[in-house]
Amino acid sequence: MAQRAHWKSKAGFILAAAGSAVGLGNIWKFPYETGENGGGIFVIVYLLCVLLVGLPVMTAEILLGRAAQCSPVGAMRKLAGRRSGWVIFGWLGVASSFLILSYYSVVAGWSLHYTWLAAKGGINGLGTEATKAIYMELFGNPWLNVGWHFVFMAMTMAVVAAGVSRGVERWSIILMPALFIMLGGLLIRAMTLDGFGPAMDFVFGFHAEDFGRRGVLEALGQAFFSLSLGMGAILTYGSYLKKEDDIMSAAVTISALDTVIAIAAAMVLFPIIFSHGMEPAAGPGLVFITIPVAISQLPAGSFLMMIFFALLVVAALTSAISMLEVATSYFVDERSWPRTKATLVAGGAITLVGIPSALSGSVWFFGSSMVSVIGMNWFDALGYLTNNFMLPLGGLGIALFTAWRLNDAIRHDHFLSGTKLGVFYRAWLFLLKFVVPVAIVFVFLDSIGMLRAN
Ligand code: PHE
Repeated sequence: MAQRAHWKSKAGFILAAAGSAVGLGNIWKFPYETGENGGGIFVIVYLLCVLLVGLPVMTAEILLGRAAQCSPVGAMRKLAGRRSGWVIFGWLGVASSFLILSYYSVVAGWSLHYTWLAAKGGINGLGTEATKAIYMELFGNPWLNVGWHFVFMAMTMAVVAAGVSRGVERWSIILMPALFIMLGGLLIRAMTLDGFGPAMDFVFGFHAEDFGRRGVLEALGQAFFSLSLGMGAILTYGSYLKKEDDIMSAAVTISALDTVIAIAAAMVLFPIIFSHGMEPAAGPGLVFITIPVAISQLPAGSFLMMIFFALLVVAALTSAISMLEVATSYFVDERSWPRTKATLVAGGAITLVGIPSALSGSVWFFGSSMVSVIGMNWFDALGYLTNNFMLPLGGLGIALFTAWRLNDAIRHDHFLSGTKLGVFYRAWLFLLKFVVPVAIVFVFLDSIGMLRAN
């Protein structure tokens, strides 16, 4: 057996895990969900979800990975027993990483396309209708979708193939600071806009009338997705840690970075939108329609636009890397394949599985025929299946396993080693045993309810 790869530095692990967490979920989804659910009150409920559900599950994932020194399937086999039913949760993680990356890469491909258009100045100064037409045209064009999806998957595979420290860690150390700088720059620019005051009131003020039961559920689902929980990505990254590293403070740092970046993204988007008298609750089209229209009215708009979409690409890339790492590490750990072969096979398969998503706006079979049968196209159906069912189920399995089944000595030892936060052990276990499962089951039941409503 080859020796297991490890992170070179603690900062490398934190940046890689934060890179996994910070993604399209922060920049694209969090702001529009905030917009649709009453602003400040949604933000507070989201913070509670991160603290009471996300943080305990993240700590559990890192702990399982570090204790087993193995990716999800192997980790469950090692910690629960080879024939144990818990191993299903390992498989679920691999399946989720496959399916999520297959459509995530398509949206990342759109970001590449927009970065390219912005660099050419091609989306600058168009009105709402023309910008909408660009989006619709892209969505309906099979070649552009498949082409950019291939390019993005190739970039992701190149990083993962290079290895844990020479690929994932090294690129995280380069890309994450670049992301902070781009976002920081846009934030400073946003602060000088007229819309900044109203935007702050919107993001931090209470607008209880726009908040309902749906807001709570969206906040919890978003916390899960945004922190990359429930599919073994953080578990896999945790498996490259050595025993001395402090798990709890790493989980706190990663969750805090992810949350700060989501809020910063909202503080960039809303001032831009408000400064142009546009609607905050623009839904998924916020980033690809509203933002280009609004940014291009600013001085140096095409430059800012390019920065914005490059930011989106970088955020998506570091997340995609973590998803591909889950599938790759399965072949490396369980089948002893060389990393290059594992990356090519896993990445190649995901690229193929992503083609129907890339064709959802253009090919009848994956688009309108599916819409007429199940009410959504292939792309939306995968998002719906993974976010509402697979991730919560995976998170539930990880929480229940860690709290109720994992050997007490292993759990206690690993939590305590290297940390000053040992006093939180009991609180963590309590959250994991009761609060997390109840919250997840709640979301689950709602998903099923939504299915009926559709
Ligand atoms: N957390 C990422 C985002 O916010 C998405 C992701 C989910 C990444 C699950 C890895 C695993 O975009």
